[in-house]
Amino acid sequence: MLQVNRLQLSYGARLILDNVSFTVAPGEKAGLIGVNGAGKSSMLKIVAGLMESDGGSVSRPRTFGYLSQDIAHEEGTAEQGTVRDFVFNSTGLDTAVQEYESLSLQIANADGNDLEDLLEHFAQAQDSLERLGYYEADARCEELIAGLNIGGMTLDRAVSTLSGGQKTKLALVRLLFQSPELLLLDEPTNFLDVEAAGWLMEFLQDYRGALLIISHDLDLLDRSITKILRLNEFTHQLEEYRGTYSNYLTQTGDAQALLEKTKKQQEREISRLRKTSDRLRRFGATRVSQRRSIDRRIAELESSQPDLPQESRRIKIGFPVRQQSSQLVLMAEQLSKSYGSKEIFNNISFELERGQRLVVVGLNGAGKTTLLKTLLGVTPLNSGEVIMGDRVHVGYYAQENEGLDYENTVLHEASDILPDNIKRVRSILGRFLFNGERVFQKIKTLSGGEKTRLALAKMVLDGPNLLVLDEPTTHLDATSRNIVGEALGDYNGTILTVTHDVEFVRNLKPDSLLLMPEGRIVHYDARYDELLERA
Ligand SMILES: Nc1ncnc2c1ncn2[C@@H]1O[C@H](COP(=O)(O)OP(=O)(O)OP(=O)(O)O)[C@@H](O)[C@H]1O
Ligand SMILES: [Mg+2]
Repeated sequence: MLQVNRLQLSYGARLILDNVSFTVAPGEKAGLIGVNGAGKSSMLKIVAGLMESDGGSVSRPRTFGYLSQDIAHEEGTAEQGTVRDFVFNSTGLDTAVQEYESLSLQIANADGNDLEDLLEHFAQAQDSLERLGYYEADARCEELIAGLNIGGMTLDRAVSTLSGGQKTKLALVRLLFQSPELLLLDEPTNFLDVEAAGWLMEFLQDYRGALLIISHDLDLLDRSITKILRLNEFTHQLEEYRGTYSNYLTQTGDAQALLEKTKKQQEREISRLRKTSDRLRRFGATRVSQRRSIDRRIAELESSQPDLPQESRRIKIGFPVRQQSSQLVLMAEQLSKSYGSKEIFNNISFELERGQRLVVVGLNGAGKTTLLKTLLGVTPLNSGEVIMGDRVHVGYYAQENEGLDYENTVLHEASDILPDNIKRVRSILGRFLFNGERVFQKIKTLSGGEKTRLALAKMVLDGPNLLVLDEPTTHLDATSRNIVGEALGDYNGTILTVTHDVEFVRNLKPDSLLLMPEGRIVHYDARYDELLERA
């Protein structure tokens, strides 16, 4: 049982958690929601024991496992050893196997005197293997790898040869393999394609342990969750709702509607009483006590008016183009790329014209990110050529915030783009909700959604005419996601983007899709939405 009592947390003068208490019972599945920057990840880190709170206490079940939101930037993945070792290590199975193997060897070479002792140890080692599920372990591990759709990973592969994305997924495999009494997951579907995310949802639904999961993925919260914990960004307190995310919406929708209704009724009553009071005033001294009692009633009603929750602060943005490019923006000719013997794509050719909006679609591992990187010359091609048109000015949004220098402050990072115009820099940062002292915050301490907002703010400052975007909406909360989608919908330049966010695509109104890995361009219409969701 997880028991969290009266947590308190501030960053400097900023209050994040105020008296937060909750429990997650064995087998219970709780979804933690809240807007970007509310403090969800901070709270989960405290729960996982990786961060100190200013007050309060946490009592954890005997076994628990934690997956960070920014795992790509956190080391901790063993670089040595095989995938099998790394995964087995989560339960101590790797040492048990080593012990067993070394004992077998010793027994083979032992003389009579030691043998008895060794055999006894050997029997114990066998028991441990049994207890730790050694005989099913490979199969279980392979099942998890297949479920998360990790292409090209075998148990004997050295961890050091895996790509960043593969390592991230492997960390999740390891956690699920460990199968602790409590899973603490911070936006685990961000780096999964839709099929793998769907698999994870089902896995979590059937999971026997307890779960505390942060997600902006409403589908996931609808399927695997038995209660919703909402971190309120105004009160910094936690609200608890029984049931799934949809249940939460009805409950809070109802509560909000009820509040609004009460407020309206009270307002009507107040205005009626005011009129009466005014009328009585005309009678002068004769009606004074009557009037006073009515005024008192008005004051009472006014002070008991329910406070409607403020609407979350919204980002307000547009993406300006500083100078238009030539008509032909980009020409890709017979592009081929392989990593070692693994072919990613072969002989892809296409053109991009000014104002075109092209969405790149394909399953995980189909080479979408690689394609973008080769187009920009970040990753070399094996063959083929990319020709950029005249006056093309690229804005690149890299997956997992690769484009940000984590040691910089927000202001420093943004003013590098436009060093001579701090006023504009501050004003654009403000629209992305980096106000006041917040601009001096170190990037490595920003929340997931805030890092995305900063990367987008940099792009706005730069005024590019070709946007190359790799999953730009993953870390954003639902409101920001729509605002960014709409702003890009109004963008005047050319867009090439990877995404599987269907809502985002609707806002974007693309004209064509580029299907990977075959590299075919098709005309976009709504029929492709399902394909997008799967991609
Ligand atoms: N070390 C720190 N110093 C100052 N501020 C910090 C620090 N760490 C986090 N913050 C701020 O605290 C707030 C909460 O951060 P947290 O990462 O917990 O948010 P979150 O709810 O997980 O948001 P998201 O949905 O964007 O991931 C953010 O505004 C963040 O910038
Ligand atoms: Mg977070």
